[in-house]
Amino acid sequence: MARNHAGTTAIVTGASSGLGAEFARTLAARGANLVLVARREDRLSALADELRDEPGVTVHPLAVDLAAPGAADVVTAFVRERGLPVDSLVNNAGFGMHGPLAEADAARLDEQVRLNVGALVSLTRAFLPEMTASGRGVLVNVASTAAFQPVPFMAAYGATKAFVLSFTEAVAHETRGSGLRVTTLCPGATRTEFFEVVGTDRVRVGGYQTPQQVVATAMRALDARHTPTAIVSGRRNAAAAVVAGLVPRSIVVPLTARLMSR
Ligand SMILES: NC(=O)c1ccc[n+]([C@@H]2O[C@H](COP(=O)([O-])OP(=O)(O)OC[C@H]3O[C@@H](n4cnc5c(N)ncnc54)[C@H](OP(=O)(O)O)[C@@H]3O)[C@@H](O)[C@H]2O)c1
Repeated sequence: MARNHAGTTAIVTGASSGLGAEFARTLAARGANLVLVARREDRLSALADELRDEPGVTVHPLAVDLAAPGAADVVTAFVRERGLPVDSLVNNAGFGMHGPLAEADAARLDEQVRLNVGALVSLTRAFLPEMTASGRGVLVNVASTAAFQPVPFMAAYGATKAFVLSFTEAVAHETRGSGLRVTTLCPGATRTEFFEVVGTDRVRVGGYQTPQQVVATAMRALDARHTPTAIVSGRRNAAAAVVAGLVPRSIVVPLTARLMSR
């Protein structure tokens, strides 16, 4: 049964596009008040205007670069100033880079780690006490099927997502019994702006899912009596994740390298 989020407040990062926008729409439809975080203010404002049509829902857009130093403090100050108690957090903002590590733009590489890992850890730490005290919400950290094996030619991206998976499974254990439902969402290729940012979709493995399919999978897991600490979206992606864990790395890594160097 779909759980009601009426009267709770959720922060969604990366809400200006793709999976984040879909999470925002879904949570608003279930009655959650929202703080929408990303850099593109125009997109956030347009989504906020759309979601304010949901009865009883308040929406606060916050334009901030989460890869910048102190970004989590900016988010914290924003919600404190407005007296918003935070029940739920969807750490979804993230991006990938493709190519040999030795040729990667060093500044962009740092930005990737600061966003995909740094901001996610800082925001989780900042809001975990009130989320566990509330016990009414969800913590969703968005990883990827890239989390399940090393990914040559997207080496840092794959490693950030392996970090997110490990981190979230550990936090889920630490917070068990609090009522907070914690999960790592591991999507495969999804039709968003992700591959535009990567610069190619030749590295896509398998067919595309829609953001609606991926978020519906996440919400079903969060609605379940026992929320799994990790969810892979899509049956083929789930099977591939299992295989990646069973096959020796000496086979998985060159195979992944072949897919990533197309
Ligand atoms: N699409 C896929 O195939 C796929 C597969 C596996 C995992 N994922 C993961 O899913 C998550 C969502 O990605 P998506 O597919 O929805 O891609 P997307 O459409 O490109 O959305 C990425 C979101 O992250 C935000 N963002 C990027 N840099 C930011 C920064 N420095 N500060 C704040 N926000 C920032 C973007 O907003 P602004 O540009 O406005 O800041 C945007 O809202 C990511 O963590 C990604 O790694 C995606």
